[in-house]
Amino acid sequence: MIIAVDGPSGAGKSTVARILAKRLAFLYIDTGSMYRALTLKALENNIPSDDKNKISELARSTKIDLRNNADGSLTVFLDGKDVSLEIRKPKITQFVSDIAKIKEVRRILVGIQRQLGLRGDCILDGRDIGTVVFPDAKIKFFIDASAQERVNRRFKELKGLGQNVSEDDVSKDLSNRDKIDSTREASPLRQAADAIYIDTTGLSIEQVVEKMSEYVKKNG
Ligand code: DC
Repeated sequence: MIIAVDGPSGAGKSTVARILAKRLAFLYIDTGSMYRALTLKALENNIPSDDKNKISELARSTKIDLRNNADGSLTVFLDGKDVSLEIRKPKITQFVSDIAKIKEVRRILVGIQRQLGLRGDCILDGRDIGTVVFPDAKIKFFIDASAQERVNRRFKELKGLGQNVSEDDVSKDLSNRDKIDSTREASPLRQAADAIYIDTTGLSIEQVVEKMSEYVKKNG
């Protein structure tokens, strides 16, 4: 069974999707990490994020894989190398939306995501899972939160990772990515017609996971 979890940056998708996957013993696939890994490779190779042809060529010759660990964490491999921590750095976050809007990049990464989905029951989180990657997913969630709450959460998360960012930086980054992700021509962020909308503003992680589990129990 496939469970699709979509929503804007900082709504808490990855956190709740990861916990729910562990609870249900499903594979967890963080599709944003794949766009981030490719962005890292582009930066390492000094390819500008607006050079669509070079970035597409790079995507074709890159191997990205994900591994679910027993402790619930996820390891992201870029051409066989563990880049799980590097892909969370601000430099990557700054450019990832530009890379993710390239059609050919999406075609290639969506192909890998569909392959990963064949590995068994899984939960995928991203922006276009319920609309494009797995439009027939049995269950679809759209996870949202107010802009201020998303800024607060992302700020705390980055501080926790030891990053020296200001709330203002986080706010600008989120609104910039929201804009690019939802206005791009290739599979923009939007809620699938059959997705369950969950506004997580003011809810704890546990409360959101509980809502999702209940729904899966009834409809899975
Ligand atoms: O979820 P995240 O912040 O790690 O995602 C990084 C970027 O990748 C985000 O700005 C939008 C893009 N993305 C996408 O376009 N489609 C997906 N399925 C997942 C992420």
